[in-house]
Amino acid sequence: MNVLSNVRLCRGHYLMRLGGREFPPTLPGQFVQLQCRVPGEQPGWSAVEVAPGDWPKPTGRELTDAEPLLRRPLSLAGRYDTEFDVELDIIYSVVGTGTAWLARAGQGDEISLLGPLGNAFAISESKPRAALVGGGVGIPPMIYLASAMQAAGKRAVAFCGARSADMLPITLTPSQFGQFGVDSVIATDDGSLGWKGFVSEPLAAWLDAMDAPDRQAVVYACGPEPMMRAVAEICIARNVECQVSLERHMACGMGTCQSCVCKTKSDAEQGWSYKLCCTDGPVFNARDLIW
Ligand SMILES: Cc1cc2nc3c(=O)[nH]c(=O)nc-3n(C[C@H](O)[C@H](O)[C@H](O)COP(=O)(O)OP(=O)(O)OC[C@H]3O[C@@H](n4cnc5c(N)ncnc54)[C@H](O)[C@@H]3O)c2cc1C
Ligand code: FES
Repeated sequence: MNVLSNVRLCRGHYLMRLGGREFPPTLPGQFVQLQCRVPGEQPGWSAVEVAPGDWPKPTGRELTDAEPLLRRPLSLAGRYDTEFDVELDIIYSVVGTGTAWLARAGQGDEISLLGPLGNAFAISESKPRAALVGGGVGIPPMIYLASAMQAAGKRAVAFCGARSADMLPITLTPSQFGQFGVDSVIATDDGSLGWKGFVSEPLAAWLDAMDAPDRQAVVYACGPEPMMRAVAEICIARNVECQVSLERHMACGMGTCQSCVCKTKSDAEQGWSYKLCCTDGPVFNARDLIW
């Protein structure tokens, strides 16, 4: 696909819109693996030679070069289909070589992406309300989910958490959630915008103000693991369904390398088994996870 735009949203995040003639059907919660180098161009590093009976001796450049070997997993933050093309939104934070390369990409540049990958958030048929809880780079999949909530006729509220106002990857007027009829509650750790504290606190207050939240609402969460764990505990204590999207380190993104395992409850003798975040997830029922 080609970069249509790549703009800075706040101090820490960029919004990249990619466009192409076609892309397979996608669902909120799914992700793509982006190749963070020019498609078809030889990278600066070369294959590691291994002598028979010897161990590979990587130089380090294979992992740290400005054009990394492995693709990087990023959630879909939105999809827009027109008569002629498909547009996909990615919101990313620059944390290392791959995302720094993405930040340098300009309008018209070609980017290779693999996907859609992983499962998706399940929209409840019986429960009319939803809380979309996102922290930092966990907010992007919630924007895509907000569009699906509107299409399904659900009443949703977005709970967005960030360290400070200038690290919030959404605009407020107009808000990316507002375009889908979804109100946003903002929480910042330092109180520079909205609720001062963790985003899980207003979520708990929202659930407690509702009659029979277990029959009315589903909570969806993505973000730092301590945040998701707190959200899961709040929901489990109130018997409310909670789906969390895990962001584990991933290499292949398609079930081969086993780098993304997470522990889940199971009928196995030891009471648990490993699941793969990339193919069994990234979305899991919070009750099934062993944190
Ligand atoms: C399913 C999934 C969806 C994701 N969606 C988004 C998204 O929408 N927006 C976004 O900004 N990021 C998202 N991430 C995280 C993103 O993949 C990483 O930030 C990215 O791969 C870092 O690449 P890099 O080359 O810039 O950093 P690297 O040079 O590889 O690493 C830089 C630093 O980031 C840390 N890091 C790398 N990968 C992860 C990870 N998966 N989780 C936590 N820390 C990591 C490393 O430990 C290191 O400290 C997602 C991850 C997964 C698994
Ligand atoms: S990322 Fe390779 S198995 Fe999940």
